[in-house]
Amino acid sequence: MHHFRHVGQNLHCENVDLAEIARLYGTPTYVYSTATMADNYTRLAGGLRGLDLQICYAMKANSSLAILRHFANLGAGFDLVSGGEIRRVLAAGGDIKRSVFAGVGKTEAEIELALKHGVFAFHVESEPEIARINHIAGKLGVKAPIAIRLNPDVDAHTHAKITTGKSDNKFGIPLAHAAAAYETAARFPHIQIKGAQMHIGSQLTSLAPFVEAVKKVAPFVQELKAKYGITYWSIGGGVGIVYKDALASGDPAWWSAQPPETRPLTPEAYGEALTPLLAPLGLKILLEPGRYLVGNAGVLLSRVEFLKRGKGKNFLIVDAAMNDLVRPAMYDSFHEIVPLRRDSGRPALTADIVGPVCESGDCFAKDRTLQEVGEGEFLAFMSAGAYGFTMASRYNTRSLAAEVLVKGAASDLINARESFEQQIQNEQLPRFLTK
Ligand code: LLP
Repeated sequence: MHHFRHVGQNLHCENVDLAEIARLYGTPTYVYSTATMADNYTRLAGGLRGLDLQICYAMKANSSLAILRHFANLGAGFDLVSGGEIRRVLAAGGDIKRSVFAGVGKTEAEIELALKHGVFAFHVESEPEIARINHIAGKLGVKAPIAIRLNPDVDAHTHAKITTGKSDNKFGIPLAHAAAAYETAARFPHIQIKGAQMHIGSQLTSLAPFVEAVKKVAPFVQELKAKYGITYWSIGGGVGIVYKDALASGDPAWWSAQPPETRPLTPEAYGEALTPLLAPLGLKILLEPGRYLVGNAGVLLSRVEFLKRGKGKNFLIVDAAMNDLVRPAMYDSFHEIVPLRRDSGRPALTADIVGPVCESGDCFAKDRTLQEVGEGEFLAFMSAGAYGFTMASRYNTRSLAAEVLVKGAASDLINARESFEQQIQNEQLPRFLTK
């Protein structure tokens, strides 16, 4: 469920007309709904009620300061993956003490920063990393809390580039070697064994892999509790969202109309299946959702530049490009594309929807059918709140898009469009090239 819907002919985010945002701030512009994020957070927490739950928002999905503040206000901690993310949480007034630090390549400086701010735990991915954390903690005269990331070797049945729980990718320590890794950790004087962690992949649309992974790992987690007194288990993120029927899925009626066998994963179903497996462990349970919290809470607004009619093919050329939203080019992912002004009287148009970047991969959709739209009209790329702006680049010397946050009838710019001057501000011409 989300808060994007047409009111009359015009697509709104909560009570704000998106065309007004597009006119006010220009395009491409990301727009996010605070109510959708809050609903998603509350539903997920509600689905797992009864557990001692801590939600650590995986901020790699969307790390704008205003979004971090919104989640901090809702009570979230954060799943961090870099020193930059730690600094963002601090800048947004979030709590590092409720946040976990993940990632396979933490640097010494990043570990030190996390320790100084009292990170809840490091999610470690290898034995050399434990040694490094021990060394830095020793230098600072503290004990570093850790959990080892366990790789359960479960197939998440998602895109190959975002599956992480199989033994053939770089993440975590295989279950078979995990006992030895914990024993190693226990021998370090500046390491405090605090928990266990796993994450099997992203954009999972069925329950089965989550259930399989929890069932597979739970006995080992129980052993860890007995042996080391661990106090928490993080079961990662990964709950998927609706991309194909994104707009329709804002309406509760759409959900009730879906046959149960094909109904997308809901936080209620997720909670119902996992709570009985997790509750008997008597541990604090951490979740690290990213996409689920923000994905359907954001859209990317774009303007139509040209409709280029070809022989067998039309191209709708828009002002957003793969640098703004890379997911279609990178993962062949589907984003629903919706005209901001709905007009059922117009003929249908089938076209490839492309950006202006000089690459044939700069294509958002092939042979997509929508109502005919022309130059100057606006489109919304739905479900763009997660891994949209955070994966943007400046390719083709295009500036990073603007970001706007909506709450009810209020909207505000949370990130101004980057200027050309900002783009080149760190560049300089070396002396040996001067004439
Ligand atoms: N925890 C860990 C350890 C992770 O590696 C990730 C995501 C998450 C939590 C959050 O997963 P989520 O709840 O968002 O599925 N750029 C890709 C997704 C990459 C996900 C990386 N790890 C995309 O656009 O689909």
